[in-house]
Amino acid sequence: MATFPGDRSFAAECDAADPLAGFRERFARDDPSLIYLDGNSLGMLPLATAERIAGVVRREWGTGLVRSWEHWIDLPRRAGDLLGSELLGAAPGQVLVCDSTTVNLYKLARAALDARPGRTVVVTDDDNFPTDRYVLAGVAAERGAELRLIHTGMDTGVTADAVRDAVDGETALVSLSHVAYRSGALADMAQLTGIVHDAGALMLWDLCHSVGSVPVELDACGADLAVGCTYKYLNAGPGAPAFLYVTAALAGTLHQPVQGWFGQREQFAMGPAYDPAPGIGRFLTGTPDIAGTAAVEEGVRLLAEAGIGRLRDKGMRLTEYLIALADDWLAPLGCVLASPRDAASRGSHVCLRHPDAWRIGRALIRAGVIGDYRTPDRLRLGPAPMTTAFTDVWDALDATRRIIEDKTYQDFPAEPARVT
Ligand SMILES: Cc1ncc(COP(=O)(O)O)c(C=O)c1O
Repeated sequence: MATFPGDRSFAAECDAADPLAGFRERFARDDPSLIYLDGNSLGMLPLATAERIAGVVRREWGTGLVRSWEHWIDLPRRAGDLLGSELLGAAPGQVLVCDSTTVNLYKLARAALDARPGRTVVVTDDDNFPTDRYVLAGVAAERGAELRLIHTGMDTGVTADAVRDAVDGETALVSLSHVAYRSGALADMAQLTGIVHDAGALMLWDLCHSVGSVPVELDACGADLAVGCTYKYLNAGPGAPAFLYVTAALAGTLHQPVQGWFGQREQFAMGPAYDPAPGIGRFLTGTPDIAGTAAVEEGVRLLAEAGIGRLRDKGMRLTEYLIALADDWLAPLGCVLASPRDAASRGSHVCLRHPDAWRIGRALIRAGVIGDYRTPDRLRLGPAPMTTAFTDVWDALDATRRIIEDKTYQDFPAEPARVT
């Protein structure tokens, strides 16, 4: 889009022509005036999911009781295969829905390090999401390895040259986020995976901010391993189980460190010793969260119906529109774009830098616009394509403009309260 009329009618025209507009009504909207630009943190509740969870609880648990395990037992694989085929570009038998992203990251990182004996370096970047850096540091320490941090521009993401410079014959594993949690910078999965493989190392992707917002092609990119959460763009709800991907070429040989009974070959033989299941099943640990996994299945179905191509297209247009309005209205008020300007290099959220970002975010919530704050001085706005209208973006940016112009953000403390 070349120019964006600042008039709200332009946004209304975009909404009228939006092929995904009808999906907005398929989510709980108890407060129709609320503008929600934080679907990249916690997605909204699909009405179908509320019904499905009620059915799981009332019928499958309440009536079926323990008999329901007959069909529950395969749910982590069924949901994984659905997610894999619809949103991850993964053939069946490589994806599981289970545990949290943090726990899955630990399982896969440890397994990867053990699969490259003699190599003693794990690489990530210093702006990767905290849990990734903490888990990788812990795994490296456990195995006497070094954690090598690529220095990454906070607003630009990891570059191919930086990865090339960081890997060598000592490198066992590289782990990076596909879309950066703060800036939204989108990494080139195929290119970076190729660089890592040229060094003989394994590649582990964190897809938390990309799954459901940008097309992901794990098989085609030759990715080895991936993890991601389901409570953002997949709309599966707070604490819903995460997912993991292990390429078929590795699934039967990697050893995952949490040797639970759900990963056992003949689980109900209750055998004396751990004997891992032959393929992806070995990456399960303990009893899965059934209601949460059912919510993942519903969330994936809804996204599949919308189509990841159309979601990506709308996500690019929404963020382009947001940036255009921010350039016009907020840049003169001291806001600086802190995300890639090129839509092809960006996921579905945008950061704006302002010294009073924290207070502006609080004032926006008071005005009925929910965005997010990220350290050190970023207002993070995520117009999730499934649930956000172009008029939401216009209204949110207009509210931001008024809050900064009128300085009403000064009603709030300058900094978030520290929890000790
Ligand atoms: C990139 C990334 N990785 C990991 C996580 C969190 O993982 P978990 O669900 O285990 O808390 C988040 C949460 O926002 C994230 O953005």
